[in-house]
Amino acid sequence: MSSLTPVSQFQSSLFNKPRVPSSSPPQFASVFFPKRLSLQFQVSPPLLPVSGMPMKGGVIVSATTAEKPQKRYPGESKGFVEEMRFVAMKLHTKDQAKEGEKEVKEPQERTVAKWDPTVDGYLKFLVDSKLVYDTLEKIVQEAAYPAYAEFRNTGLERSASLEKDLEWFKEQGYAIPEPSSPGVTYAQYLTELSQKDPQAFICHFYNIYFAHSAGGRMIGKKVAENILNKKELNFYKWDGDLSQLLQNVRDKLNKVAEEWTREEKNHCLEETEKSFKFSGEILRLILS
Ligand code: HEM
Repeated sequence: MSSLTPVSQFQSSLFNKPRVPSSSPPQFASVFFPKRLSLQFQVSPPLLPVSGMPMKGGVIVSATTAEKPQKRYPGESKGFVEEMRFVAMKLHTKDQAKEGEKEVKEPQERTVAKWDPTVDGYLKFLVDSKLVYDTLEKIVQEAAYPAYAEFRNTGLERSASLEKDLEWFKEQGYAIPEPSSPGVTYAQYLTELSQKDPQAFICHFYNIYFAHSAGGRMIGKKVAENILNKKELNFYKWDGDLSQLLQNVRDKLNKVAEEWTREEKNHCLEETEKSFKFSGEILRLILS
């Protein structure tokens, strides 16, 4: 498994950080994690019996009082994808997903069941989404960091299917709009990020593809029922078993992240909020 060492020698210095374990909880803990969960970071984690360690009431008593308890992160034991998922789920609203905790502020954060989509708005959403997927797929093809190449031909790619869908709309007599500001801004951001900040880029990569396979499909179904006479778009069809394709990508993401320091992992998790912001702007087009 290739690491996130950049191809360019010049860039490599950026990622040769010393692997010093973090001694303070991540900055975002208070923002993303409710108090109940933040507290979990404070207790000594896994109560695995360690030979030679005295145990009191099921709790391991550390041999030295100076020894700091190791911090744990929600989902950490299952792999880094579970950590990314945990942070992402908290950023949903309750209307969007059961695990969501965010307050509804924007129209696209309300339950999809109450959306009032328009074909013109949906077309803008599809065009901007295509620009974002074109960009992601170009980034992994070019692989400025060798690890990106792991994410070529995953079967999750959406660019070609969106191309076919836009062609279908054209045949139905719709004019296909040019990409608009939310898509153009996000594509530009992703391109720049991919060259200088691989951990943050991977956060967007995960959120974009996985969000589409979850909430994205719910949206597709709802919009098709409301305004497309139930026409099922290629955007929501995958060749092969979607859950297997997702699992393959989870495995690769977990492997890539195994080589990251705790700081790099936290940096990746912190980017989730931006991913929601950019994608939220694109989703909002459906309601325009
Ligand atoms: C209308 C907007 C949205 C709705 C209705 C929605 C809904 C959902 C639902 C129902 C799930 C599945 C929860 C489960 O596994 O039980 C989910 C998962 C997820 N969503 Fe969203 N979501 C929306 C927007 C977003 C956005 C903007 C992002 C980030 C860009 C995002 C990222 C994710 C991720 C990463 C998962 C986890 C997928 C997995 O574990 O496979 N979602 N969402």
